[in-house]
Amino acid sequence: MIIETGNAAETESFACQVSKGLSPGDVLILTGDLGAGKTTFTRGLAMSMGMDPNLVSSPTFTLMNIYPGTPALVHVDFYRIPDGGDIFFEELDDALNGNAIVVIEWGDRFLDQLRDMVQGKLFIGRFTVLGEELREIMIEEDSYYG
Ligand SMILES: Nc1ncnc2c1ncn2[C@@H]1O[C@H](COP(=O)(O)OP(=O)(O)O)[C@@H](O)[C@H]1O
Ligand SMILES: [Mg+2]
Repeated sequence: MIIETGNAAETESFACQVSKGLSPGDVLILTGDLGAGKTTFTRGLAMSMGMDPNLVSSPTFTLMNIYPGTPALVHVDFYRIPDGGDIFFEELDDALNGNAIVVIEWGDRFLDQLRDMVQGKLFIGRFTVLGEELREIMIEEDSYYG
């Protein structure tokens, strides 16, 4: 799936569309420059899952936010973890147990490790800044099988 959005609200409603194809256990890796819209997209997912969008903020410093619901939405940000760093922590392991939908900003740098941890489907969303408010968002299921 590939789309161009012209403002943040359009990115949020695209996320609503995407959320319809997600099940508990699925993981979405979001990659792209700072300000490209990864957190905005996550806010759209939360909205479509019936959560308060005001709860959604970047977990850059907390590493992980959990937005309660059925299923819960777990929002992770690996921005501060250096390349080759250790992404294992107990809360993440719990979050990947299959009961939540998990979004991981900057997760592409740890793709190999995540492939081994994910129980459901793994999707990769690539965000590109095309203009002040113009963004390209490409989402595909991870094509690795093994
Ligand atoms: N088309 C768009 N999609 C997403 N965000 C947009 C768009 N146009 C402008 N913005 C703005 O760009 C910023 C994106 O920030 P954020 O979602 O935190 O990015 P990231 O998490 O990728 O660093 C927000 O201030 C948002 O309002
Ligand atoms: Mg962000």
